[in-house]
Amino acid sequence: MPVSSTRTILISGASRGIGRAIAEHLLAAGHRLSLGLRNPAALDGTALDPTCAGVDEQGLPRVLLHPYNAEDPASAEAWVAQSLSHFGAIDSLVHSAGVFSRVPLLFESGQEHDIQQLWDVNVMGPWWLTRAAWPELAAHGSGRIVVLVSMSGKRSKGRLAGYTASKFALMGLCQTMRNEGWEQGIRVTAICPSWVNTDMAAAVNAMPKEAMSQPGDIAALTTQLLELPNSCVPFELAVSCNLEV
Ligand SMILES: NC(=O)c1ccc[n+]([C@@H]2O[C@H](COP(=O)([O-])OP(=O)(O)OC[C@H]3O[C@@H](n4cnc5c(N)ncnc54)[C@H](OP(=O)(O)O)[C@@H]3O)[C@@H](O)[C@H]2O)c1
Repeated sequence: MPVSSTRTILISGASRGIGRAIAEHLLAAGHRLSLGLRNPAALDGTALDPTCAGVDEQGLPRVLLHPYNAEDPASAEAWVAQSLSHFGAIDSLVHSAGVFSRVPLLFESGQEHDIQQLWDVNVMGPWWLTRAAWPELAAHGSGRIVVLVSMSGKRSKGRLAGYTASKFALMGLCQTMRNEGWEQGIRVTAICPSWVNTDMAAAVNAMPKEAMSQPGDIAALTTQLLELPNSCVPFELAVSCNLEV
């Protein structure tokens, strides 16, 4: 089935970092965007501000902003419902909201909260949101789900038990989405970077920031992914800025 050239895409985590770069790239490529944000006002006056982003061929604003907190399942359902009401359909989902914290295997008392937050945002957030958008993605015939997983969803490195466990779980969720959506034309891609030059990697000193993967390059990959036909969508993209053996 040919893929429509203009997609209607929900993106989480578009206030900053990789999600923001993806949103800017997809907007420039002509797509319609619905951005779920904890603080929609964070995009006031930017290229992603609906008043700056223009209208589609039906005269609808090409960007919709909606409150979304990955820790609140009701906000996922409200965001999907508002997106449907605005655009009439949804065909793609980009999960970029995520949190990182250094919780080791032998965590300190009190770090249970960090583990719970890693689970709630990195795993349950994409799960609830996918569940809410699924009927629309399935109805389209070429639905797409792009998930910012991590190399930490493929191998364990460093003392990052909490983050790694959340990303392995997220990878399991991606495999399940791929399996259960295949017959309906839903294609899933798990993007697995090592370090990307965003706030999340701000405290990393192991390499210069310019040697890390750049958010704009992940965004360009994502834009290309969304243009591929059902027969040619990679399930996993490992994107390492350093040698992984
Ligand atoms: N940067 C890296 O090195 C790297 C490497 C591999 C994978 N990743 C993954 O890529 C994704 C994006 O990371 P990034 O580097 O862009 O991180 P970032 O710059 O720290 O941005 C994180 C984004 O997630 C949003 N977010 C966090 N908690 C949320 C919540 N409870 N509800 C809704 N949104 C929430 C943030 O929104 P606010 O502005 O409201 O906080 C922000 O938009 C994450 O899943 C991350 O694990 C990143």
